Amino acid sequence: MNIGNIHFDGIPVCLAPMAGTSSVTFRGICVEQGASYAPTELVSARSIIYNGVERSYRYMEIDPEHEGITCIQLFGSEPGDFSEAIKIMLSDERLSKVDMIDINMGCPVSKVVKTGAGSALIRTPDVAAAIVRAAVDAALQFGKPVTVKTRIGFNRFIAEDSRDFVKRLSDAGASMICVHGRTAGQMYGGSADWDAIALMCEAAHGQGTAFFANGDIRNDDDAVRILDHTGADGIMVGRAAMGDPWIFARIRAALDGEPRPPLPDNAQKCDMLMRELTGTAEHIGEVTAVKEMRSVMPHYIKGLPGGAAIKVRLCGASTIEEVREILKECRELWT
Ligand SMILES: Cc1cc2nc3c(=O)[nH]c(=O)nc-3n(C[C@H](O)[C@H](O)[C@H](O)COP(=O)(O)O)c2cc1C
Repeated sequence: MNIGNIHFDGIPVCLAPMAGTSSVTFRGICVEQGASYAPTELVSARSIIYNGVERSYRYMEIDPEHEGITCIQLFGSEPGDFSEAIKIMLSDERLSKVDMIDINMGCPVSKVVKTGAGSALIRTPDVAAAIVRAAVDAALQFGKPVTVKTRIGFNRFIAEDSRDFVKRLSDAGASMICVHGRTAGQMYGGSADWDAIALMCEAAHGQGTAFFANGDIRNDDDAVRILDHTGADGIMVGRAAMGDPWIFARIRAALDGEPRPPLPDNAQKCDMLMRELTGTAEHIGEVTAVKEMRSVMPHYIKGLPGGAAIKVRLCGASTIEEVREILKECRELWT
């Protein structure tokens, strides 16, 4: 299957973009474990125009050597912002290597929605289509495809409106549309509506546009089921990959009809946590890395004996050495 000029052998299984989690280090790790690609977290198109790429560079940084196919996600509410931001971004030597641009039309956070960006665009399909057109025109000059990630609706799923939304994004030139099966109003609560995703997938395919499904893929069986249920060409896995990048190898095996690789043991989980932490520190510095990984580290030790107490200690750590010491004690406890 293809997204624009980018070819995938087999069904693409991707890491869903997640602010605070999708660091360049974690994305590289997920790809190493079998993810087809991993978009960056959302970056403001307007900030790129006003501040240049440097201020948001840490969120946009790509590492083609370890990531393979790369994708930067932008958000905004003005078509002109996308034209300009994409030109600025793709004229930067480091970022010019990116393979595709994704547009965020799903973020439910009020700070984003009140500016008319993210999921607010579901309510303004004219603007959404104009944004895709502007982004496609700008990216085309650099030979890069544009994709969109959105949700099934704003407050409610209305099949006709959502199918129409998909058609308009396709007509405007989106090379792939990924749908998270929740409304913006649901944020991350309730459950993803795979029936709604299936209807939107049908609309995309009717326009000849590739389509990915996302939402509540918690394990390899879910991955097989959502593809079957929705008819999607690919999938994105978000929260289930936090602290478990090995999920991509298990999904890949399930899709290929191969035996699942064994689950990681406790020592492997500790090693991977340290790898993600030290790798992240190399990019953004130790102090910021330890602080920002506070939301990620607990996922690696979820369900392990004494996990709750260890989580508190890990979240109180402020250096890599402290984290290493805590994990050293844990390893002794766990072996
Ligand atoms: C902490 C967090 C941050 C997220 N940040 C983004 C983001 O920057 N861009 C985006 O398109 N979606 C973002 N999402 C949504 C996910 O990409 C995904 O659509 C959602 O988590 C549902 O998939 P899942 O059930 O596999 O987690 C975020 C989700 C979470 C939990």
